[in-house]
Order: sequence, then structure tokens, then C-alpha cells
Amino acid sequence: MSELALYPLSDEHKMIRDTARDFAEKEIAPIAAEFDESGEFPHKTIQKMGEMGFMGIEVPEEYGGAGMDTLAYVLALEEISKVDASHGVIMSVNNSLYCHGILKFGTEEQKKKFVTPIASGKAIGAYSLTEPMSGSDAGTMKSRAIRDGNHYILNGRKSWVTSGPVADYYVVFMMTDPEKKHKGITAFLVEANTPGLTRGKKEPKLGIRASATSELIFEDCRVPVENRLGEEGEGFKIAMTVLDAGRIGIATQALGIAEAAYEAARQYAVTREAFGQPIGAFQGTGFKIADMKTRIEASRLLIYNAAMAKEKSKKNGSRYSLEASMAKLFASETAMWVAHQAVQIHGGMGYSKELPIERYFRDAKITEIYEGTSEIQRLVISRSEMGLK
Ligand code: CAA
Repeated sequence: MSELALYPLSDEHKMIRDTARDFAEKEIAPIAAEFDESGEFPHKTIQKMGEMGFMGIEVPEEYGGAGMDTLAYVLALEEISKVDASHGVIMSVNNSLYCHGILKFGTEEQKKKFVTPIASGKAIGAYSLTEPMSGSDAGTMKSRAIRDGNHYILNGRKSWVTSGPVADYYVVFMMTDPEKKHKGITAFLVEANTPGLTRGKKEPKLGIRASATSELIFEDCRVPVENRLGEEGEGFKIAMTVLDAGRIGIATQALGIAEAAYEAARQYAVTREAFGQPIGAFQGTGFKIADMKTRIEASRLLIYNAAMAKEKSKKNGSRYSLEASMAKLFASETAMWVAHQAVQIHGGMGYSKELPIERYFRDAKITEIYEGTSEIQRLVISRSEMGLK
């Protein structure tokens, strides 16, 4: 179910939701467990998603995208994530952390060169902010970019880059003036084959195992000045603005995981019998189902609200950090909680690799961590509410 009385969907929205659902069930569902097990990147299905317009849903058609709105993006991402959270995060990062930032802050030439191949699914984009010693405190990064004539020379080590091992282009944040702290950070667009850039080892992960994550190592990597995104010193604001969009994507990925876990648990509760009745007839299980459903629908409301706030921002430039952080906080904690309950309702079968329930449980955890931990979301929300810094 992805329709609420408060947000009636247009025919176009229903069409993209149904197309994504159909694709996910036919093309992704049969391979999800196998790719989770092997940890292989699902190149073929991601390429097909690109051909269908899912890798740049909000990107205008002139730059290779589908030219739709944020609600369309959320609806499609929810359907993909419901079937496989790995495909979900690859799609989310491509759409919001990569394309959205360049569309918002890039020059015309940068949009043509760095967005078109990615939005049309011919190439993959990634976003690189985190470093081994700076995750939540992103403003303290150590990587340096030093201007040298018409180039910048990039040095440093970046970590936890989603799609790092497979991306063709990266948005990378580096310190250009350490004395200015966060105001000394600058953003760059870097092609994967630039000499001086190497990809580190692929991280072995608990969940979202079919998505590829790695370090990026920069050693005297020369990037032309025309690849700078925005002005020198604007990098931190660009990184934060882009993360607001990214957090709506991760909230949606979490919603998809929660829905999948819930639907499996609901079906099991009405079919599995114990002590002479379906286990859902026991309040201990029935009330879990009630709480799971209620939290999922509350997540959806927060996500659709954040999507609307982002649409508004496209017109008047208003910030939607509060809406995005509330959606991510609530939806990710809901996904973890719902997946936990789904395992419990299934008992031993929830723990078995014969069913996807244990995968939902493993996949849910990362949504409370990446693109800002739950603690960071609480910081953003509380600061916004109290006007304190
Ligand atoms: N939009 C625009 N500007 C923003 C902003 C936003 N959302 N958030 C902050 N800013 C601006 C502030 O207005 C301020 O501007 P001025 O200096 O002009 O006053 C400036 O940025 C600094 O803001 P703060 O003082 O609030 O900065 P802070 O150092 O206290 O940090 C924070 C704030 C919210 C904790 C931030 O550091 C943060 O979000 N940290 C988490 C980082 C994160 O999410 N990392 C995940 C990386 S991606 C990933 O997970 C991997 C992947 O590939 C998926």
C-alpha cells in the first residue's frame, strides 16, 4: 500500500510506482538472495533500471533523466527497496547524493558532462565525504586539495563510499583551506580513471551486501579547475544540502525494508497455527502487527511530507533539513524495529536463510547509520526546534 488520504497520487505517480513494482518483482526478486549471498554488484539490473529512467528520476530530460518530481522518486525507490535494499541504496545515492548536488550547484557544462551519463543509467555516480577519522563530524576532514595553476592536486583517504568500487564519477569533498575549518572545504567532480585515484578494498558488510562500498585513495590526483563544484569554501554547505536530499532517499529505503518485513510477518501471523489457532489471534502477535502497521504508515507520512518540502525548495530555495531528518530518523528506526519483530514472529524460520526475513533484519541496520546516524538526525532536529547551536 502506498497511498494515503492526505497525498492522493496522480495517474503519473501511480504509473511510476506500478512500473517500479512490476520491475522489482520480475527482475530483482529472483536474484536478491543470490546477490546478497555472493556480495556481487548487480550490474545487469542496475543497467536496466537506468534504461527505465530510475537512476535519474528528478533529473530534467535534457540531462538524460525522467524529469519527474520527488514524490515519483520516493514511490519508485520504495518499490525497489521493498524487494531489495541493495538495489535501493544504489538507486538512492545515484539520484540524490550524486545527480541532485550537481543539478543544484553545477555549471551548465558540468550538468551535461557529469549528470547526463549517470541519469540515463550509462554510468554510476557516488558521493565521498567521510574519512577514516571523520564520519559524523564531517567538517574535520583531513584530505587536502591544493590549487596548482589550472588544476587542484588532491591527496587523502576517503571511506565508506557507497558504489565506490564501481562508480564512474565521484563528488568528493576536500579541505582547501584548513584554517577556515568547515568554511575551507571545497567540492570536486572526479572521474574514476583519473591518475592518482585508486579504489580501496571492498568492505565486507553485514547487510546491503550487493551494494559495493570502499575507500578512495587520492595520491597527487590532478583535477582540472573546471571540475570544482561551486566556489572554494562552499563544499560543506553543498555536502549538507545534498545530504538533506539523500536522507529522504534512505528514509524511503527503510520504508521499503519495513514494508517487506511487515508483509511477511502479517502473512505468517494469519497462516501459522499454534495452540489451535493462528498465531496472529494471540494478542502478543496481533498487537505487534498493529504497531508495525501504524509505525510504517507514520514513516510514510513523514517521507511524503519531506518529499513535498523538497519540491517546495526547488521553487523557493527553502531548507527542508528538519523534514528530511525527521523522516530518516523515524523510518530507519521503524525499519529496524519492524524487522526485529518480523524475525520474532517467524521464530526459527525468521533466523533461517531459507526466508528473506533475516536479510531484512541485516539490511535495516545500516539505515540508522549512513547519511547521518540516528544521533545526528536527533541533533539536527533538536537544534532546529530550539534554535540552539
Ligand atoms: N543545509 C545547508 N547548510 C547547512 C546545513 C544544511 N542541511 N547544515 C549545516 N549547514 C551550514 C550551517 O548553516 C553553517 O553555516 P555557517 O557556517 O555559514 O553558519 C555550516 O553549515 C556549519 O553548520 P554547523 O555549525 O551546524 O556544523 P556542525 O559541524 O555542527 O555539523 C552536522 C552539523 C549536522 C553534525 C553535520 O556535520 C552532519 O550532518 N554530520 C553527519 C554527516 C553525514 O551524514 N555523513 C554521512 C556521509 S555519506 C554516507 O553515509 C556514505 C554514503 O555513500 C551513503
